[in-house]
Amino acid sequence: MTPDTDSDDPLAWARDYTPILKSFQEEYGENKPLEGYTIAFASHLEAKTGVAIETLHEAGAEVLFAPSEPQSTHGEVVEALDARDGITAFAQEGMTDEAFDTAQHDLLAHGPDFILDDGCELIAKVHADHPDVAADVIGGGEQTTAGITRLEAMETEDVLEFPVYGVNDTPMKHFFDNVHGTGESSLTNIAITSNTIISGKDVVVCGYGYCGRGIANKARGMGAKTIVTEVDPRKALQAHMDGHRVMDMDEAAEAGDLFITATGNRDVIRIEHFEQMADGVLLANSGHFDVEIVVPALEELAAEVTTPKEGITRYHMPDGRRLNLLAEGRLVNLTGPYSQGHPAEVMDTTFAMMFVAAYDMLVDGTDLAPGLYNIPDRLDREVAHRKLDTLGLSTEEMIESQRAYAEEWEHPDSSF
Ligand code: NAI
Repeated sequence: MTPDTDSDDPLAWARDYTPILKSFQEEYGENKPLEGYTIAFASHLEAKTGVAIETLHEAGAEVLFAPSEPQSTHGEVVEALDARDGITAFAQEGMTDEAFDTAQHDLLAHGPDFILDDGCELIAKVHADHPDVAADVIGGGEQTTAGITRLEAMETEDVLEFPVYGVNDTPMKHFFDNVHGTGESSLTNIAITSNTIISGKDVVVCGYGYCGRGIANKARGMGAKTIVTEVDPRKALQAHMDGHRVMDMDEAAEAGDLFITATGNRDVIRIEHFEQMADGVLLANSGHFDVEIVVPALEELAAEVTTPKEGITRYHMPDGRRLNLLAEGRLVNLTGPYSQGHPAEVMDTTFAMMFVAAYDMLVDGTDLAPGLYNIPDRLDREVAHRKLDTLGLSTEEMIESQRAYAEEWEHPDSSF
């Protein structure tokens, strides 16, 4: 029998499902275009992230990595990466919030040239606490909605010291990662953690953006009766037209069996909502920060707190109702006991966009003033073509008459 090398390599399985990253490794592994650059990488540290880190390293970069969430780190991945020359971990499994903060500061003290971030933790910290390091950073990339919101605030205050690509805002990221990745992995982890069925439940999804839309539509596909809450009237209308019931949170609190927040905002499910909920409801958060479900209010209301199952905290209300919080209100798809984050095929596109963000500024030398930028459309399309190639799918090429037709406005040949 041949030796089972896969079982000794925590990245082996994820590599099979990240073909774009593999194509970068094959293309850049020899010439090492990122040689001489130190790249800081913050993300949820599990196998797919490991493949992204090894891809940057394979392309020549020295990589320093830290978690973007204290509880989503997989220790075996950290150990495997840290063992390689040129890759350094500032992470451990099960960090406290304080250790998480300290690790990010320790990483920044090493003076990275480029920062690939998730939630804008490293970028915010380098500006607030390491101004000398920030002054020498060439650029950055940010992969999630919550981080873009912080970067927009930094840009409004005119404090950004270097250019940052808003990777989250590029179609190749949010069309797939936010919609399908968050949608599938949130529902999968809720079902596995609670060992209950989605089908037939009244599922309340708070927020109908990219993530919320994915969650709501997939929950309905599984047989749930879906309810959406929104603050944006156009998104509320979109949810209505997509066939979901739309109501405010007061009404939804009474109607729901399972609540999932995906707003990127705070204080979405609050004390007045907990007071109206039925016995046995499940509460889960898919938004980046653990402030969407107001956990301190649950603690305040509860007569007793128990743990009926790993990953579930049960708040016993004085009137006998029991409210069940999954993954402590942190990202349910990344921090629960069984959570593995998004499917690897989806993170392949997200991390590919992070890679091209770094490549564009560091190797292609795109020189931008400090600020927040969209990734150039040509790069997004290139990654899309790479992904289609790996899937064996082809697209139509516009023929000359079509290109001309798209460029003219008079349309002289049309019959009306
Ligand atoms: P988005 O901006 O597309 O959607 C958020 C929606 O929530 C908007 O339509 C907004 O109007 C709505 N909203 C805001 N406050 C609300 C409130 N109080 N009640 C109801 N609706 C409200 O953002 P996207 O991309 O859907 O991301 C949402 C969150 O999920 C962010 O925190 C993002 O960082 C996070 N995220 C999580 C992932 C995961 O793996 N769990 C992956 C990708 C993003």
